[in-house]
Amino acid sequence: MKAASLIIILAALPLAAADAPAPSPDFPDGYRDWRHVSTGLIGPHAPAYAVNGGFHHIYANPAALKGYREGRFPDGAVLVYDLFEAVDKGGDVTAQGARRHVDVMVKDSRRFAATDGWGYAEFAAGERTPRPGIAASQDTTCHACHQRAAARDFVFSGLRD
Ligand code: HEC
Repeated sequence: MKAASLIIILAALPLAAADAPAPSPDFPDGYRDWRHVSTGLIGPHAPAYAVNGGFHHIYANPAALKGYREGRFPDGAVLVYDLFEAVDKGGDVTAQGARRHVDVMVKDSRRFAATDGWGYAEFAAGERTPRPGIAASQDTTCHACHQRAAARDFVFSGLRD
């Protein structure tokens, strides 16, 4: 009985591998304790507002900090793009509102070889599993746009004082 189940499992393996979804990075636990790299604001007049509008804060783990300094990010580098609504409080203040989503890039040159070593994932606010479809279409969305920063190992931002 046991041997028979093993044969069935082994027979199913190649199929499972062929159908497997694109690999996706895990949620970056603890990233709020990492180094804050920079902050940006995508305002209501920007074309990207619907998807990426609001304040975003970029964080880097220690391996990613090495990448910023050396220009080439080592395996294990993790970058986080933490996006929040921008709320007009009237008067002079535009405040940070609710979290919208957390975008992640992980460098693993073998696992994500198809996208130059970078894996991409997007987590809706409060979620720990990536949005489906994002990882599967990473070639045409995340990584396609990050190609513009190919000369800087696909990372747009730079480390600040
Ligand atoms: C249309 C272009 C575009 C698309 C699509 C895009 N990004 Fe980005 N991304 C950028 C730009 C530009 C920055 C730099 C923002 C800044 O410096 O404030 C950035 C920054 C980042 C960062 C911080 C590291 C860096 O490159 O500065 C992460 C992490 C990130 N994006 C993940 C993602 C993920 C995950 C997706 C897909 C769900 C995605 N991005 C899709 C343009 C894009």
